[in-house]
Amino acid sequence: MSMFDLTGKVALLTGASKGMGFEMAKGLAENGATVIISSRTQEDLDVAAKAINDAVGAQRAHGVAANIVHEDSLQALVDKTHEIAGPIDIVVGNAGVNPYYGPIAEITNKAYERTMNANVQSNLWLARMVAPDMAAKGGGSMMFTSSIGAFKPSDTLGTYGVSKLALIGLVRNLAMELGPQGIRFNAICPGLIKTDFARELWDKPGIEEKYSKSIPLRRLGNPDDFAGLAVFLASDASKYMTGQALTVCGGSSMWS
Ligand SMILES: NC(=O)c1ccc[n+]([C@@H]2O[C@H](COP(=O)([O-])OP(=O)(O)OC[C@H]3O[C@@H](n4cnc5c(N)ncnc54)[C@H](OP(=O)(O)O)[C@@H]3O)[C@@H](O)[C@H]2O)c1
Repeated sequence: MSMFDLTGKVALLTGASKGMGFEMAKGLAENGATVIISSRTQEDLDVAAKAINDAVGAQRAHGVAANIVHEDSLQALVDKTHEIAGPIDIVVGNAGVNPYYGPIAEITNKAYERTMNANVQSNLWLARMVAPDMAAKGGGSMMFTSSIGAFKPSDTLGTYGVSKLALIGLVRNLAMELGPQGIRFNAICPGLIKTDFARELWDKPGIEEKYSKSIPLRRLGNPDDFAGLAVFLASDASKYMTGQALTVCGGSSMWS
């Protein structure tokens, strides 16, 4: 049996109708997990679930709409996951927002609260809702999508970076608090990835070529660059790893 095998495991993913979340869900399903994929748009989820099921040749993906910014919506998602697939073994808290581009000193209270609520608080809600499932089974793995934006200040994406650094702090603390129950928490920190979320940053004439020259692996990231990491973090292959922030950026942001 492969140490990456996820047969019989139940995974719940937010932000998984497209982009990195979709590719992570597909990777988990390809390795045997049942995946409940979530986003706000049921029609997109139905298309995404069918694509995963067609790829793996089995009914392993189910789409359940939920908005991460509302606690009751997340609770309904967890309840529906239980109904469809049973107790949850793997969480991928991937949905995030960036409603504001500009200096942190000028952000409105509303935009600040929206960013922190979606990128930090919602993941705490999700972790709290699912932890009892994992504790009852003696373990589980949760991973949350942060960003390399957490590692340095920015005059345009500062609040987003603050929220993603707070998310790493949340992951670290939950790893300490719930480690004794066998529940692992890790953060994933992508560099610039070619998704709709970051389209403003890369989809302009000449930008991709220019930015790629500064990246050791000489390209921007693609959503499917995250499938392997999700499988690794979800599986026994990473069974002694918790409380970490793992950077996936082609080398654009190296440890120093
Ligand atoms: N792309 C990058 O360069 C980059 C870099 C660093 C970190 N990240 C992080 O990566 C994560 C995923 O982004 P991505 O680039 O893969 O984006 P994406 O391809 O645009 O996908 C975003 C997903 O999140 C869902 N979503 C958005 N708001 C939501 C909400 N309030 N509730 C539930 N679902 C919601 C979207 O579907 P609906 O709109 O239908 O809800 C979609 O499924 C985010 O946390 C982002 O901060 C991205």
